[in-house]
Amino acid sequence: MGRVLEGKVAVVTGAGRGIGRAHAIKLAEQGAKVVVNDLGSSLDGADAATGPADDVVEEIRQAGGEAIANTNSVATAEGGEAIIKSAIDAFGGLDILVNNAGNYRPRMIFNMTAEDFDAVVKVHLYGHFNCISAASKAFRAQRGGRIINTASEAWLGEAAVSNYGAAKAGIVGLTRVVARDLGKYGVTCNCICPRASTRMTDALSFGESVDRSALDSELAALKPDAISPLVIFLASQQAANVNGHVFLAYGGTISLFSAPQPERTIFKEGGWSVDELMEAAPKSLTADVVNPAPGQPAKVKA
Ligand SMILES: NC(=O)c1ccc[n+]([C@@H]2O[C@H](COP(=O)([O-])OP(=O)(O)OC[C@H]3O[C@@H](n4cnc5c(N)ncnc54)[C@H](O)[C@@H]3O)[C@@H](O)[C@H]2O)c1
Repeated sequence: MGRVLEGKVAVVTGAGRGIGRAHAIKLAEQGAKVVVNDLGSSLDGADAATGPADDVVEEIRQAGGEAIANTNSVATAEGGEAIIKSAIDAFGGLDILVNNAGNYRPRMIFNMTAEDFDAVVKVHLYGHFNCISAASKAFRAQRGGRIINTASEAWLGEAAVSNYGAAKAGIVGLTRVVARDLGKYGVTCNCICPRASTRMTDALSFGESVDRSALDSELAALKPDAISPLVIFLASQQAANVNGHVFLAYGGTISLFSAPQPERTIFKEGGWSVDELMEAAPKSLTADVVNPAPGQPAKVKA
């Protein structure tokens, strides 16, 4: 098979490091001209630097590919517009948008400030919206395009990341709705939940119960570039029928998530009284349901 994306134009956000860097390099290898967007921020989203985006552009050019750097933030509407415009100005159009940029500010919910919550939702959820919104106008006019979003298994529930998990759940919902908004224009919108060793996973905190060294060696084996072939597939013509889906990808594993369905239902004509529901629910609706974080006795401080 020749190069799958010959002549296509792609934007990858947060492509200066980690998983986004791997996507940008793989897209260029497959013949795409790439806008390497990265604010160059620290993990919590503070600061900015041009180095990460410039370095990846240089790497792509050294390998014979075409790329330009862009350092706008995805977190504002103006940033999203400027990122998409940079592709159109430099390469004459846009075919593929890979939303990947992300920051990370884990805290238990009782320590989570509104600022921490806002900063993460702004980069992840608004970051996706800002770039999709800007790209959708070009995609609609040309009746074609590919959007590949980045969620996380955190949307299914993970401790200490209410900001991140909420944003990622929002990205899943955004993906499924945008798929329906733009499908008729020949556009697809899908979402990946990746697992790969990056500076973000270096910062993961799973609490005292987890063997950190075992986890670190498991994670070290998961290379960012193992995710990128799925991005290429979703960006290709072969995936024209794949729209509004969520994938899990790590190492050699790629899974398609099912859409959540009602699992058990109880029904009573005329509705339930409190007494009736208190009686019926534990016997059927919530029978055998397991609490993922059962209560524990308070720790006695020495
Ligand atoms: N690494 C994993 O196992 C894992 C798991 C689940 C989800 N993810 C998701 O994958 C994506 C990439 O994460 P990573 O692990 O490669 O992290 P990373 O920190 O290595 O890379 C993220 C990049 O995004 C850039 N960025 C941050 N804020 C930005 C902004 N406002 N505008 C533009 N760029 C910005 C950063 O400068 C950084 O280079 C993120 O969306 C993350 O949530 C990663």
